[in-house]
Amino acid sequence: MTEPLRLGIAGLGTVGAGVVKIVRQKANLLATRTGRPVVITAVSARSRDKDRGVNLSQYAWEDDPVALAKRDDVDVFVELMGGADGPAKAATEAAIAAGKDVVTANKAMLAIHGQELAEAAEAAGRVIRFEAAVAGGIPVIKALTEGLVGNQVERVMGVMNGTCNYILTRMENAGLPYDEVFEEANQLGYLEADPTLDVGGIDAAHKLALLASVAYGTKVAFDTVEIEGIERITIEDIEQAADMGYRIKLLGVAQMTGRGLEQRMAPCLVPASSPLGQLEGGTNMVVLEGDHVGQIVLRGAGAGEGPTASAVMSDVLDIARDIRVPTFGQPATTLSVVKPAKSAAPAPYYLRMMLHDKPGALAKIATALGEAGVSVDRMRQYGHEESKAPVLIVTHKTTRDALDCAIHSFAATGVLASDPVAIRIETV
Ligand code: HSE
Repeated sequence: MTEPLRLGIAGLGTVGAGVVKIVRQKANLLATRTGRPVVITAVSARSRDKDRGVNLSQYAWEDDPVALAKRDDVDVFVELMGGADGPAKAATEAAIAAGKDVVTANKAMLAIHGQELAEAAEAAGRVIRFEAAVAGGIPVIKALTEGLVGNQVERVMGVMNGTCNYILTRMENAGLPYDEVFEEANQLGYLEADPTLDVGGIDAAHKLALLASVAYGTKVAFDTVEIEGIERITIEDIEQAADMGYRIKLLGVAQMTGRGLEQRMAPCLVPASSPLGQLEGGTNMVVLEGDHVGQIVLRGAGAGEGPTASAVMSDVLDIARDIRVPTFGQPATTLSVVKPAKSAAPAPYYLRMMLHDKPGALAKIATALGEAGVSVDRMRQYGHEESKAPVLIVTHKTTRDALDCAIHSFAATGVLASDPVAIRIETV
C-alpha cells in the first residue's frame, strides 16, 4: 500500500465532526477502495474544549487555520469553516501556496473568489474541490464534470436551500404563516447564522452560480444572478397556488441563451405533480438537462452531518485516487466570461395584491396590464377584509419586463393597498 493521504481539517462543526467520524469508522473501507490509507493528522477550530462527540486527542491541534494549512504533515487542507472571506480564504490561500490540495464546502467563498483561487491552485499544480458546497450530499458536481461531460448542458434547475423548502412545505402542510414557521426553523437550528443567506435566496444563488460555471464553462458570475427570497410569500399565496395545482418553491434556473447566461433564483410556482413540486422538507433536488442525455433528476439531503460529510469524502477520495478534475471542470484559465442576460423567456405569472375596495379599482389594474401588453388568464378576488380586497391574477405568458412595466404603472392608479407580489409559473 502507498503512503497515507493526510488530512488537515479546519472547522469542526457538524460537517467537520461528520468527516472525522467517516475517516475513523471507515478506515479499512476507504483504504481498500482508494489503495491508500486516509488519515487525519491535524485539526483546527475556534474552541478546543467543546464536546463534538468525536475523539480528537490523537490529532495535532492548531488554533490558527492558516498554520494548519501550512503544516508539513498535511496533504489535503479540508476547509469547513465557512464565510466568503476572513480565515477561510486566508487559510485556503495559505494551503495553495504551501502546495496542498483543498477540499471545501464553502459556497460563499467560491461564488465570490472561486476564479482567483482555482487559478492559483492550478498554477501550483493543485486542485480545489467543492462537491459539498452545492446541494449537500447530492453528487451534482461529479454528475456534471464526469457523468455528463459528453453533453452540452441545456438547463440546470434546482431547489438548493433545504431551509427555504422546509419553511414553504411546513407552511402549506400546517397552514401556518411565514413568521411562525421561520421562528420554528430557527428553534430547530435550520437557519444560517445570518438567516438572510437562506430566506433571502443568497445561499442558493451561490450554489446556482457555481453550478452554472461548471455546466457552461464560464467564470462564476454570482453578482449577475437575479435573486429574490421567500420573505414575501404568504400562506395565502401557498393556498391559492395549491388551489390551482401548484406549489411554491425557491427555484434556481441557469440557462445559456443567444443573449447570454440567464441565472435566476426566485420563488416560482411549479406543478404540484412534478418531481420539484413534490419535494418535501429540507430535501434538495437538482435537475440537469443535457443535449444527449435528456433530463436527469437528482434528489437528496441538502445539508446535515452525514450527507455533507459524504460529499466532502467524495472529493478527498478522488484526490487519494489521484483523480484530479479541475475545480470548475476545465482549467480555470479557459473559463469564458459570459454576458449576463436578464430572464426574457416569457412565462405565465401569478400576481397577488391588495386593492382599496372601491368602484373601478379592478378595472384600473386590468387596464394597466392591458396597456403593458400583459393578458389576463384568470382573476379572483377572495376573502375580503374591511375596505381592502385581496386580488389574485394569473397572466398568460408574458415577459418579466412587460410585467414590471404593468406593476410600475399600478402605483399611479391610487388603488393599491399593498405592493404586488409577482411569482413566475415555471415549466419544469
Ligand atoms: N442552509 C443551507 C440549506 C445549507 O438550508 O440548504 C447549507 O448551504
